[in-house]
Amino acid sequence: PDLYPDRRNSRGAELGYRPDLAELSGAVAGGYVGEETVTGFVGGASLGENDLRDAVNPATGRTFARWAETSEADVARAVAVGKDAFPAWDRKGPAARASCLRAYADILEAHRDELLGVLGAEAGKTMDDGLAEVREAVDFCRYYAAEAERVMAPKDLPSPVGETNTYHLEGRGVFACIAPWNFPLAIFVGQAVAAIAAGNAVVAKPAEQTPVTAAMAVKLAHEAGIPGGIFNLVLGGGKVGAALTADERIAGVAFTGSTKTAKAIGRTLAEREGGIIPFIAETGGVNAMIVDSTALPEQVADDVISSAFRSAGQRCSALRVLYLQEDVADSMLEMIEGAARALVLGDPGEASTDVGPVIDAAARERLDAHWAKVGEEGRVVYVGEAPEEGTFYAPRIVEMPDLDSVQEEAFGPILHVIRYGSRQLDAVMEAIGSTGYGLTFGLHTRLEERIARLVPRAPAGNVYVNRNQIGAIVGVQPFGGRGLSGTGPKAGGPLYLTRFCEERTVTINT
Ligand code: SER
Repeated sequence: PDLYPDRRNSRGAELGYRPDLAELSGAVAGGYVGEETVTGFVGGASLGENDLRDAVNPATGRTFARWAETSEADVARAVAVGKDAFPAWDRKGPAARASCLRAYADILEAHRDELLGVLGAEAGKTMDDGLAEVREAVDFCRYYAAEAERVMAPKDLPSPVGETNTYHLEGRGVFACIAPWNFPLAIFVGQAVAAIAAGNAVVAKPAEQTPVTAAMAVKLAHEAGIPGGIFNLVLGGGKVGAALTADERIAGVAFTGSTKTAKAIGRTLAEREGGIIPFIAETGGVNAMIVDSTALPEQVADDVISSAFRSAGQRCSALRVLYLQEDVADSMLEMIEGAARALVLGDPGEASTDVGPVIDAAARERLDAHWAKVGEEGRVVYVGEAPEEGTFYAPRIVEMPDLDSVQEEAFGPILHVIRYGSRQLDAVMEAIGSTGYGLTFGLHTRLEERIARLVPRAPAGNVYVNRNQIGAIVGVQPFGGRGLSGTGPKAGGPLYLTRFCEERTVTINT
């Protein structure tokens, strides 16, 4: 199906969906002021307001709402309620479920400004990032609705005389969907609506940094007609996640977050009672871009800045290591540094802001620790300035001799640069592969032969040539990595929904 007939939700200037940011910033700034208390939902009912914790705005450091951590007993109840609700939802069939998801997409669009407000307050999302995120959540709803209708229609199989054979996809039961704070709306909604489209019930757990966005998304889903028992919400950190994934009644896990947590979930699933179940993990990356001497400098500068620093570098797709061919390295670096200097850090609700805060003080400390190491070993090219309040982290650039100190993902606006000679491309590709991650890869060159040679060897699930390497569009750039970056199938791609399904072959002897 053509998901974007009017190109309303696809990428680029032809969106016709891009509001005037200055006008919107007024609405958004006044839109979400909070001082409310947010809870989980089981069967559509709010859970109690016990164990309250603060929701803190990372741009100001101030508490803007409170949220109640879900007890282990309520996590277990959420799974039980999901299990009861599952059979009727599964029997409804893909078309009825798809129409609920389309209604959900419409409701999300209608609440765009409130969502932008909460994304800014809770996750420090700039207006541009917030808009892209609402759009992606909407796209996921429409894409998986269409996918459910496409892949879940029963199929007749070759049948010898006297017998009919048919092939069916069905829901599996209750899916645990565990989402990250860096896309608290798009990935949170994407995981859940895929499971729901396929006929499953969901117990969703957002990151503990972003429960308010998740609660708003779940309320809107219920308004759209997705039953309360089908979309349940539990709130908390690792303890709540561990209780959920250890529950022997869950039928699958969709997880986005760190590689370390993904491995821990894998161990829990292996050791718990109950069946062997699907586990979809989307994790991090040490993503590289190679720029050669034929690339267009202005375009490189633009794409490097957006890939490394947009969203304060807090995307799993973000550029971490830029390889510059030595003949052009100095001039390219000068241009990139100039563009970095022009970035405006500040209030995410202001239309003029390019870079918001990092998510919390712990994230900033991890970046500081990484910077202490690479700043010592490398040549510091640029360190920007960050506002005093909140948890901002100034974008910075460091030139490194090699990849040895950059084997782990530093999740923020730190760009590492490495020079290479024209005869070293094979060694560069090998070094990139040696990290074990494989999420995004960028290449800037005007040599067609080089594109043809390097693209198939790129150790990455998403390869971008002569553009930036962030902002995958649902159904257009199915997204996900390999190796330490995840299991697949790719979110927003043609195989994703099937992983949430159980297969059945029926043979009837006539
Ligand atoms: N899907 C996001 C992107 O492409 C993931 O970080 O940027």
